[in-house]
Amino acid sequence: MDKKKLIAVYPGTFDPLTNGHISLVKRGLDIFEEIILAVALHSPKIPLFSLQERVDMARKTFEHMDNVLVEPFEGLLIDYVRSKKARAILRGMRAVADFELEFQMALMNRRLDRNIQTVFLMTDYKWLYISSTLIKDVAKLGGDIHGVVPENVQKELYKKFGRMV
Ligand code: PNS
Repeated sequence: MDKKKLIAVYPGTFDPLTNGHISLVKRGLDIFEEIILAVALHSPKIPLFSLQERVDMARKTFEHMDNVLVEPFEGLLIDYVRSKKARAILRGMRAVADFELEFQMALMNRRLDRNIQTVFLMTDYKWLYISSTLIKDVAKLGGDIHGVVPENVQKELYKKFGRMV
């Protein structure tokens, strides 16, 4: 029998990808057979990195994992998820601060397509305090971001802010 793969789309701005995102992908693979890390062109945030830069950094990080695909997407997330024949949207949730917006997005996406479920994983406690925004701020002001982003991302961040590595 031709069994369909259990695919989840993990969408985000990923500006840039952090170790928190990587941890979520790895844990998501305990549930799903394939994860598509979908890098959004349309995000409420104004990104530091271009769409191509964000995609390239994430691709480099996951190049050794066959069951993780990194793709850019534009337009409505739900249309993209449908086009990939994915069953779920995967999102991480950090404590209470994330809850309201995540709840709104999940309900809106459910309204747009009731056949696609949003699955939340609680962020691992190790990454609870980090966010792309905070990391960019620390990097910009010359702080040490070693250990919270992959090495290739660390290099790109320092390059962006004109710091020698
Ligand atoms: O990393 P972020 O910024 O939390 O990700 C937010 C993102 C990109 C997942 C969200 O803004 C999104 O889905 N954008 C695509 C456009 C869309 O479908 N908007 C309606 C969402 S209910």
